[in-house]
Amino acid sequence: MNFTLFFTAVFALLFPLSVLSAPVHVSRDVYVPAVILPNSSSVWTVGSTQTVTWDTSNPPSQITNPTGSIRLRKGNKTLSTDLISGFSILDGKVQVQVPSVEPGDDWRVVLFGDSGNWSGAFTIKN
Ligand SMILES: *[C@@H]1O[C@H](CO)[C@@H](O)[C@H](O)[C@H]1NC(C)=O
Ligand SMILES: *[C@@H]1O[C@H](CO)[C@@H](O)[C@H](O)[C@H]1NC(C)=O
Ligand SMILES: *[C@@H]1O[C@H](CO)[C@@H](O)[C@H](O)[C@H]1NC(C)=O
Repeated sequence: MNFTLFFTAVFALLFPLSVLSAPVHVSRDVYVPAVILPNSSSVWTVGSTQTVTWDTSNPPSQITNPTGSIRLRKGNKTLSTDLISGFSILDGKVQVQVPSVEPGDDWRVVLFGDSGNWSGAFTIKN
């Protein structure tokens, strides 16, 4: 088989698949629950255990990615390691241990599911 024929065959196979799969993707809802705690009144001490909570009052019927993860963000920089991961985004809360990070009042948690939502800025101290 020559190349033209080969690629024509590949496109003939793939194109209908991509057309078919598109509506399935579009019908799923991107779920971005709002983080409730920590909020701007929160003060976390390094090494302590804290609870992150978020609003699960309005989940869509179908969630693209039900597994959540949480990262810390300082200023406009999100840390590259997960604080915790592998929990259900429908749990509404999860406990985390505060890692040894630079103290500051511009920390946020980022909750990732389909997408990310940030908490308000809060304080981490030693
Ligand atoms: C977080 O969720 C709230 C409530 O749905 C929304 O108003 C806010 O824009 C979201 N923030 C981000 C960074 O996605
Ligand atoms: C933060 O959450 C606490 C506990 O729910 C609440 O008492 C406090 O008013 C909240 N602070 C802000 C700024 O929303
Ligand atoms: C993050 O903040 C710093 C300091 O305010 C600024 O210099 C930098 O451009 C910001 N980066 C982004 C991606 O916004």
